[in-house]
Amino acid sequence: MATIGIFDSGAGGLSVFREIYRLLPGQDYVYFSDNACCPYGEKSRDFIVGRARTITDFLLAQGADIIVVACNTATAAAINVLRAEYSASDSGPAGHVMEITGGRRGHVNFIGMEPAVKPAAALTRTGVVGVLATAGTLGGQKYIRTRDAYAGSVRVVEHIGEGFVELVENGCMSGPEAERVVRASLQPLLDAGADVIVLGCTHYPFLSDVISRIAGPSVSIINPAPAVAHHLIEVMESDGLLSTDTSDVHPSWQDAGSMPDSLHDGNSVALHFLMPHRNILLCSSGAPDAIARLFPVVMQSI
Ligand code: DGL
Repeated sequence: MATIGIFDSGAGGLSVFREIYRLLPGQDYVYFSDNACCPYGEKSRDFIVGRARTITDFLLAQGADIIVVACNTATAAAINVLRAEYSASDSGPAGHVMEITGGRRGHVNFIGMEPAVKPAAALTRTGVVGVLATAGTLGGQKYIRTRDAYAGSVRVVEHIGEGFVELVENGCMSGPEAERVVRASLQPLLDAGADVIVLGCTHYPFLSDVISRIAGPSVSIINPAPAVAHHLIEVMESDGLLSTDTSDVHPSWQDAGSMPDSLHDGNSVALHFLMPHRNILLCSSGAPDAIARLFPVVMQSI
């Protein structure tokens, strides 16, 4: 049984966890929500790299065998650094990883978020694709390179999802306030003629009902999370992490009201969710309200 470590600035990465869990219900999970520092969108690259290192160390110490950076902004800022620092080199395993994992692992693979410009460009009929993401993602080299490589003759229009992360963290995912905030960032993309909208932040899928309603039925919404989950499986297979057959595992969720256990560690609060066939640990560096609220909703939607 492998342990999959997942992190995001907040609860948004649960939209990625959901797709992974659908495919791999038999694994163990540690999810880290960096609420003490949420949102990441406007933070400096150096700051996010520092958080990514700290969180990676925490996840490895909790037993993670592979790490999913379930955050477009952190992927843009930090994944190259993480891959360089936590991978094995020609001279042997990464010493830091060996130390943290007590010799259990010599390297770690990281799965990041991909800006889904390529499938969006293949899908558009108007020739205009809209991308909603944070400032950090839209200004990052990874996004710019992907866009320039795959847009071809398609026009890509971008907009920061202003206030979207806060809506999700505050549990406001429907109703007039959510509609007002979403419309302000989405309308410019629709006015530009976009008939495909890429959700370039892992918080945004939790607003997809509102986004779809405003955009209308002729506009497709692309959430890259399912593709990320499939890629994770490929990497786990090649890393020998999926050797156990878990196909007969049928977990059932106990609702949030019966969470049996909670751990307090400095300023990070870890909620420990036990399930009949597995162990899912949800951790937050700050107030865990958002993940505690969204987690049962996510499990019910699987
Ligand atoms: N969920 C994140 C992302 O995918 C982070 C959003 C934020 O913290 O600003 O970019």
